[in-house]
Amino acid sequence: MSNPEFTGITACVFDAYGTLFDVHSAVARHNDSMGNVGDRVSQLWRTKQLEYTWLRSLMGRHTDFWQVTGDALDYALDAFDIGDTALRDKLMDAYLTLTPYPEVQDTLHALKHRGLKLAILSNGAPSMLDAAVASAGIKELLDAVLSVEDVGIYKPDARVYQLAVDRLQTPAGQISFQSSNAWDAVGAAAFGFKVAWVNRFAQGRERLPAQPQAEIRTLSELPALLPGTVP
Ligand code: LAC
Repeated sequence: MSNPEFTGITACVFDAYGTLFDVHSAVARHNDSMGNVGDRVSQLWRTKQLEYTWLRSLMGRHTDFWQVTGDALDYALDAFDIGDTALRDKLMDAYLTLTPYPEVQDTLHALKHRGLKLAILSNGAPSMLDAAVASAGIKELLDAVLSVEDVGIYKPDARVYQLAVDRLQTPAGQISFQSSNAWDAVGAAAFGFKVAWVNRFAQGRERLPAQPQAEIRTLSELPALLPGTVP
């Protein structure tokens, strides 16, 4: 049975990094070259990457997510005294073909089958998103791949979420937004989307002025929340 909070949904919009694509799969592929600090490098890389998006937005000094991702990686490698430039290049390359979470393909198929519009809305630069979408084999399932580059500021600025409303020509209240990033889920809920927080890492609830309508553990639980025939 669907969740009444999601009645009237006609479009599903997904965050990309951490939600569809496993950001830690880049380091995982090169763990052998990183001694025993791979996991810590990967965590720091992701933390700095997100901090730099928020800070650049506050500073009014936008640059695209490829640059931010590289800057964050440089910080993380430096913090662990890793000066291997070939490894740096390999990690950046790996970011273009991040491994999708195992349930992504089946979930998108199921939702598409119900006639829902499907889209990505991400901090990622268009070329990064195109590469990841192609590599994951989900291009034909998506009606749109939307990047913050069209507004020149990062999530959770409302202009980013508005992109989905404008490009899908769907009111915010008819859009279900999925993110594993709790702060993104909150930002999207504050904007007016119906939000399913994909709490993959069993994190605590954010103390911020909006809350997601639902919390799920993986995207496999999403079809049951939404209206339509369960395939
Ligand atoms: C994104 C970041 C938040 O894909 O993961 O927008």
